[in-house]
Amino acid sequence: MAALAQMNGALWQDQARCDPHPPLREDLAVDVVVAGGGITGLTTALLCASDGRRVALLESERIGAGTSGASSAQVSVVPDAGYRALLSRVGASAGVTYLLRLSAALEFMDALIGAERLDCEWRRVPAYWFAADAAGWARLQDEHSAAQRLGQACRLTQDVPLPWPTSGALQFGQQAMFHPVQYLAGLARVARDRGVRLFEQTPVTGWEEDGDGIVVRTPAARVRGQALVLATHTPLGANVLQTEMQAMQSHILIVRTAAPLPPAIYWDTAEPYHYLRAVSDGGAAAVLIGGADHKTGQGGAPGRAHAALSAYARERFGDAVATRWWSAQLYVPADGLPYIGRSPLSHHVFVATGFAGVGLVQGSMAAMELAALLRGEQRESPWKATRMRAVAAPRVLSEGIDVARCWVGDRLAPAPRRGLDALGSGEGQLMQVDGHKRAVYRDEAGRLHVLSPVCPHLGCLVRWNGSARSWDCPCHGSRFAPTGEVLEGPALSGLERTASSAPYAGMAPVTSAAAAQQFDADKG
Ligand code: FES
Repeated sequence: MAALAQMNGALWQDQARCDPHPPLREDLAVDVVVAGGGITGLTTALLCASDGRRVALLESERIGAGTSGASSAQVSVVPDAGYRALLSRVGASAGVTYLLRLSAALEFMDALIGAERLDCEWRRVPAYWFAADAAGWARLQDEHSAAQRLGQACRLTQDVPLPWPTSGALQFGQQAMFHPVQYLAGLARVARDRGVRLFEQTPVTGWEEDGDGIVVRTPAARVRGQALVLATHTPLGANVLQTEMQAMQSHILIVRTAAPLPPAIYWDTAEPYHYLRAVSDGGAAAVLIGGADHKTGQGGAPGRAHAALSAYARERFGDAVATRWWSAQLYVPADGLPYIGRSPLSHHVFVATGFAGVGLVQGSMAAMELAALLRGEQRESPWKATRMRAVAAPRVLSEGIDVARCWVGDRLAPAPRRGLDALGSGEGQLMQVDGHKRAVYRDEAGRLHVLSPVCPHLGCLVRWNGSARSWDCPCHGSRFAPTGEVLEGPALSGLERTASSAPYAGMAPVTSAAAAQQFDADKG
């Protein structure tokens, strides 16, 4: 299978678009401000508007451009960490409550699609959690008994409709798959019809709370409201919840195959696991294969994930042709449950995060929970954002150690003393320039972009991601474009430009001496 040189974007985002909306240009007063135009934000906005609240939704880029639109489009209520882990971490009572709410969220999506006639290829399908070997099968037997204790309907089976032998599977009925961008486009239309004010290209840059509510800042205007919902995948800005989650990247490969995969969703017992579903790619039968997960900013050599997924595809589908490759971020919570509700240390800010690998259904569940909270319902729930579980402590501690290791270690690590002229077009690298460590990127036109490598979130140093062409922060998952703008994560601002790129335009190859001269001139 030929390797794709670089990621080329999510299938769903190329196949469909949401209607465009203007940026926010004038101050506004509403009841609820929602930041984020993915499944959580749009559903929350729709539900709040249906309750009669005035709602403004602010999306930093385009609606559907984030993780919901780049997901695997598998809607499953099976918890990411499995039933055994759920039971041991949160106990049977909280586990049952959580699973019931997840199922309710999936049925809510089903009902909404029917009621609003959302055209999004929604299809209820079975799911197979399959084993590749005897150890995997033993684990599934364990998971089956834990699932039964948690009241989940599933069964062990040897009958798995994959075109290669397995050691059996745990089978679930009535899961779903769909086209996520078509779904988001439909949600946005319904939300707009219910009165939600939708704004794109409108990042939230900060907020102030006072006794009366909250004022949310954006580049051109402010929005006053009673509540700000951060439906931004991870809370924006510094939030204690970031110490309780791991930011991960998962990779997705689309391969065209001779025969379609039977309609179902599939994932295996490997670590990290692989997930699969059938898709249509340009009218041809294709399979979506995901996996090769790693911590954000710690993915190793460019192309490593692609090579791993290609090898997996080649072994199972022979000479299938790879057509697409992209990655999506996820946040894995320390105790296995998402964080939904009022943000710690805040009165008017609400969060929904820690969805791990089941964000589509958890995002819908979060929206239902948040809408209930905002209409004043008092809810005791195991996923409230202010919880503290002793079972999470070892994972929080190990995450803290990893962040400290990155924060200190990356500062002490010497940047290569490679000349700027050795940097090829489309490449980025941390380099020693003018006696300082810099994040340097050369664009396709030969221009150099010289940035501070310090992540504006909490000060870790970013690392170059050669597959996605982005600067990724290994601490809490902020990601930046090669030219420094925020792509995702908690950072509220981009990487600082340390020198104008303009003087270097068209000067390739550029010498480090020339760059040093320019820095000296800039410093005056
Ligand atoms: Fe927290 Fe970069 S995302 S320091």
